[in-house]
Amino acid sequence: MEKLAIDGGTPVRTKNPIVETDYYTDEELDAVVEVMKSNKIRRGAVTLEYEKLIAEKLHVKHAIAVTSGTTTLHIAMAALGIGPGDEVIVTPYTFIASDTCVLEQNAIPIFADVDPVTLTLDPVDVERKVTKRTKAIIPVSITGTPINIEPIMDIAEKYNLYVVEDAAQSFGAYYHGRYEGKYVGTVGHIGSFSTVTGKIISTGEGGFVTTDDDDLFNKMWGFMDFGRKKSQGGASKYHWSLPCTNYRITEFQSAIGIQQINRVEYLNKKRTENAHYLNEKLKDLPGVTLPPEVPYGERVYFYYVIRINPEIIGADMLNMAIALAAEGTYSLNYLSTTRWMIPQHLEPLFVNKTGYGGTKCPFECPWYEGKVEYYEGLCPVSEKACEEVLWLASVHPLLEKQDLDDIANAVRKVVFNFIEKKEKGIPIDYVTDEIRAKL
Ligand SMILES: Cc1ncc(COP(=O)(O)O)c(C=O)c1O
Repeated sequence: MEKLAIDGGTPVRTKNPIVETDYYTDEELDAVVEVMKSNKIRRGAVTLEYEKLIAEKLHVKHAIAVTSGTTTLHIAMAALGIGPGDEVIVTPYTFIASDTCVLEQNAIPIFADVDPVTLTLDPVDVERKVTKRTKAIIPVSITGTPINIEPIMDIAEKYNLYVVEDAAQSFGAYYHGRYEGKYVGTVGHIGSFSTVTGKIISTGEGGFVTTDDDDLFNKMWGFMDFGRKKSQGGASKYHWSLPCTNYRITEFQSAIGIQQINRVEYLNKKRTENAHYLNEKLKDLPGVTLPPEVPYGERVYFYYVIRINPEIIGADMLNMAIALAAEGTYSLNYLSTTRWMIPQHLEPLFVNKTGYGGTKCPFECPWYEGKVEYYEGLCPVSEKACEEVLWLASVHPLLEKQDLDDIANAVRKVVFNFIEKKEKGIPIDYVTDEIRAKL
């Protein structure tokens, strides 16, 4: 068997590393130049056009473009009137913004566990976590896999809760069943999308919210723009009767966003083709589970994510990632950023209940009548997933066949080597202090 690069063998790939990349063309360039020439750079007509296009594309009444897929979640929480004393049910298997948005409003994130296959919120655990203080649920269609929306909406209706769908990674995915054909992010009361670099559509930084509810739309708009009323246009007076902030996007981002939305079908098609190509190359690998398809929706592919079975492979996700990095097809930099090594409820912020101003507020705020602790064992399915699930690659449209072949060949090489080591009783532990320092 060919020796692993980490053991001194020849790496699968020696040329440029495979990294996340946005897909821009001359159309984006021209659109940005147009904005520059117009001399109108701050939020204006181009952003309004972008919002109209988003709403048309996703078949929703309203869209508001803002600075990020983090500030989208904050304006959603603010518009829903989430505040001190409230609880919001969130997922531990996500990017931290899906959970910290609750803290922005001095409310308490309550973690429910995820389904082991889809890694999205498990409706049974969600219902278990509902209390009289619960106000909302934030399910996340992680990696592009649609959430199991019907039971989530049923729970929301039963207990009179809001649903904010974090669709940051799933632009273009849609549901089957009761919500047949509706896009992920458009069934809950508010949908939240990110257009940060690497996402399905990218504006560098940016995001947008969607809703069919006029009142929520007006509230979100006001919160985003210093309390202004959209209906009164740019000349509107400021109304500081409520807390508000400035999360306005620039015309540059909107101009890019328009071009990206116009080709989103192409972008998703390429991503899906890339993912299916990897599926073909990896389908017979022992101990490796490929990305799931779900009966309740059509997925898109933000990331191509595999799950390894340590019982068969003899190693965890981290050792696999380190071996793949040595093969030249994976960057360890991704591990510490968004490719979760620990679930969010075990991040120091939560475990230590680190609050604002050096206090434990809002976790131990007097307005909060519940008691919350974040600890190992709280969400065991997520905890196990973090040891086994590897975010192998962004399957962005610029990947070439050679890139995909390199990724697949490296995985095959590492898996078969690891299995052989396991059979021979050779321990697999590549986690050195140097690597640990990088994570
Ligand atoms: C699921 C999820 N929610 C929220 C965010 C935050 O978006 P942004 O980076 O645009 O603030 C991201 C990604 O970065 C994400 O993946």
